[in-house]
Formats: sequence, C-alpha cells, structure tokens
Amino acid sequence: MKTRLLKQLAVVCSVACTSSLSTFANTTPKPEELRQRCVPALSPLPAAMPGAEKDTPALVNLGKTLFFDVRLSANNSQSCNSCHAVDKGRGGVDNEPTSPGAYGKRGGRNSPTVLNAGLHSSQFWDGRAADLSAQAKGPILNPIEMAMPNEQAVVDKLSAIPDYQKSFAKAFPGDAKPLTYDNIARAIAAFERTLITRDRFDDFLKGQNAALSTDELKGLDLFVTIGCTACHNGPTVGGNSYQKRGLIHPPKIEDVGRFAVTKDDDDKFKFKVPSLRNISLTAPYFHDGSRGKLEEAVKDMAWEQARPQAVRRRSEIADDLPECARRQGTRLVGNQAAREPLRKRGRSSLSHRGVRVPMAVTGLTDARGAIAILDWRYAPPEVRVEQTKVKVFAALQSESN
Ligand code: HEC
Ligand code: HEC
Repeated sequence: MKTRLLKQLAVVCSVACTSSLSTFANTTPKPEELRQRCVPALSPLPAAMPGAEKDTPALVNLGKTLFFDVRLSANNSQSCNSCHAVDKGRGGVDNEPTSPGAYGKRGGRNSPTVLNAGLHSSQFWDGRAADLSAQAKGPILNPIEMAMPNEQAVVDKLSAIPDYQKSFAKAFPGDAKPLTYDNIARAIAAFERTLITRDRFDDFLKGQNAALSTDELKGLDLFVTIGCTACHNGPTVGGNSYQKRGLIHPPKIEDVGRFAVTKDDDDKFKFKVPSLRNISLTAPYFHDGSRGKLEEAVKDMAWEQARPQAVRRRSEIADDLPECARRQGTRLVGNQAAREPLRKRGRSSLSHRGVRVPMAVTGLTDARGAIAILDWRYAPPEVRVEQTKVKVFAALQSESN
C-alpha cells in the first residue's frame, strides 16, 4: 500500500517539482508555450466515440427515445433524462446532491454527467460497470432508481408498445428477437455515444490561440502548473483513473468508493476521477454532492490533493519553494518578488479547515479561473490575488519524453 501511495505522490510531485522552477507575477502565458505544456496531459475530444462507427441512425434514434421514456420506470415517473438531463442546455445531470428515484427515495451518490461518459475508462463513481451498455442495465432495475422488478418485466412492458416493436426491428435488423433487455441497453449506449461536447477548449488545444481569453489562459496555466492534471487529464480531463479522495489531506467520508468493488484495501476511498468537462453545469460536486459551489470543490481539491509542499506550512509560498527546488537541484528565481503582491494586499493565505493555506501556491482564488476554461459558459470571476504563480516549465513535456 505504501509503495503505491508513494508512486502517486510522485506523480503529483513530478508535476510540481521537477524541471526548472521559477516564480513570476502577473504574466499572461504565451498560448503556444502553454499549449506545449498542456498537450501531453490534456487532449482534444475526438470527433466520435469509440464504438460509434457501427451505430446506425435507427439504433441511435431508438436509444434516444428510450433515454427519454418514463415507461422504463415502474410507475412511469422517471426516465434516464430525469437524473441525467441532456435537453434544454442541461449538463447531463439533475443538479441534486443525490437523486430522488421513482418512489422518491434517494441513493447515496450524486448523478454524474452522461455527457462524454462513453470516453471514460469505466462507468460509475466506483467503476463497477465496464462500459455504457453494461451501465444502462443497472438503473432500470435498481429499486431506488427506476425500480422495474426484473428484465423480463421491462421487455414485456416495451413489447406491448407497437412503436417499439417496429423501432427495435429496424435498429436490430439481423436479430430474430430484436426486443431484448440487452438490446435496450445497446440502443441507449448508442445514443449516449453521440453526447460529445467539443468547445473552445478543444479549439485551443488544436492550435487556435485566440480561442481562450486572457483569464482563461491564466487559469489553464495554473491548472496545469499546480498539478491538477496529475489526475484530471486526457480528453475528458478526468474519467480515466481511480484516485484517492484526499491523497495528501484525506477528508472524513463514509463512502469507501472503489473498495466496495475490489475489496482491495488499497482502493479504500478511491473514486473514478470525474471529468471536468462542462463542470460549471454539473453542480453539486463530488460523489456525495457535498459541495454546492465550484469554488468550494476547487478549494477542497487544492487542499486535499495538491502537492504537500503547497499546503504543509502556514508560511508563505516562498518559504516552501526553495526546499522543493533544492531537492530537485533546480534554481529558484524571484521568490521575493512573488511574495510582494500578496503582502501588499494583506491576504497571503486563507483559512481552510483551521489551517492557513497560502493562496499563491494552491491557487485557491485563481483556480476558479483555472477550471473556467473547461466550459465557456462559466464566466471567470474577478481575480483577487495578483497573478503570482509558481511556474513549472516543461514538467509535463519532460514526463512524456
Ligand atoms: C434516479 C436517478 C437516476 C436515474 C433514473 C438514472 N441514473 Fe444514471 N446514475 C445515477 C447515479 C446516482 C449514478 C452514480 C451511481 C454510482 O456511481 O454508484 C449514475 C451513473 C450513471 C452513469 C455513469 C457515468 C459516469 O461518469 O460514471 C451513466 C452513463 C448513467 N448513469 C446513465 C444512465 C442511463 C442510461 C439511465 C437510464 C437507463 C440512467 N442513468 C438512469 C442516477 C440515475
Ligand atoms: C490525486 C488526484 C487528484 C488531483 C491531483 C486533483 N483531483 Fe480533483 N478529483 C479527484 C477525485 C478522486 C475526485 C472525486 C472525489 C469525490 O467525489 O469525492 C475529484 C473531484 C474534483 C471535482 C469535482 C468534480 C465533480 O464532478 O464532482 C473538481 C471540481 C476537481 N476535482 C477539481 C480539481 C482541481 C481544480 C484540482 C487541482 C487543484 C484537482 N481537482 C486535483 C482527484 C484529483
């Protein structure tokens, strides 16, 4: 267990501490350089999801009808869209901490978004379903979700609807018996594979310098620099590994996460790292929906997950950095200058759970802008701290070399 933890610490730390370290204030990152540092960790969304090549329009249309059909629930009260609203510009969620099911009961977990979900390495917070088809079979029979009694009951219910008889036959032309429980799941999965949300962030990654505003560039710079990409990476900025909630400073949580699936002690309190695409639309946050505001979730992350040097001491950023730099044998430039703007403002740190956290390193304030880039609808707030930053040049590039 220890070695694995250390390995993970190394990942976070390698982003933060390797390569040349320098600090400077108030600089807007050059788009080309920033893109260079992003590209190994962050990549544009593909034009289509894997598996979509074989999806016919008939299959996708059927899946869409099923996704929106409340008759998939025991009392005709709920569709997939009830908890994963993809219409009317919604973010593929219900914006509830936990979701009320067909009979009003709530489960223990927050509804993750279905947008881009087909690009994740597995489904659910604990990864217990391998892919979208396997996942779609769960909620229909789950007693606190759609509450149908069994697979046959679902097939019988849909078979009594003539339109479905026709559309299943069209969608599964080769099948002797097209309307089966497996095919219901297959069709829904085909529809979900169309839910890709490319936006300006992809344009930037592909080379359009003007695709992001100055604030967004600064935010992205910070996001990459303080090591968020150690876990939130890939085209979906997450969704491809299991990581501990609170790698550095674990909070008290009840849900054991991935452990429930593997029974491996090492997996206790690990969750599938959520995608940060469309993050401003998917509040509340975390597996239990315990954070209502994006700022709060980011603060938690900065404290719980950022490299230990960032948050170990009450003292300011510059006191911690030389040690980090010395360990790496690199030279630190301008730490004194970096300190000044914060001092002048009289707010060098914030109190977070009784511990003083230096803002400059954790980016507690700036990090709001950091994730703003992930969705154009999120207007970056006023940046209160000067753009004092720890810059880690080429850390990500050197990782990929
Ligand atoms: C009552 C609310 C509710 C309904 C109805 C519902 N879901 Fe979910 N869905 C959830 C919750 C809660 C989770 C997370 C559960 C967990 O991780 O243990 C989830 C997880 C998922 C995921 C995994 C996403 C990811 O990133 O891991 C997908 C995909 C999904 N649901 C699709 C569907 C489909 C398709 C339907 C309809 C057949 C559906 N859901 C019906 C609440 C709901
Ligand atoms: C060590 C891996 C790791 C690092 C580093 C990390 N995160 Fe996370 N992040 C996670 C995990 C795991 C979760 C899910 C935790 C939970 O649900 O309890 C998460 C959840 C989130 C969420 C909530 C998403 C949602 O849909 O509920 C946000 C926002 C977030 N992280 C932002 C950040 C930011 C910003 C940084 C950099 C300061 C960061 N994370 C660094 C692993 C990490």
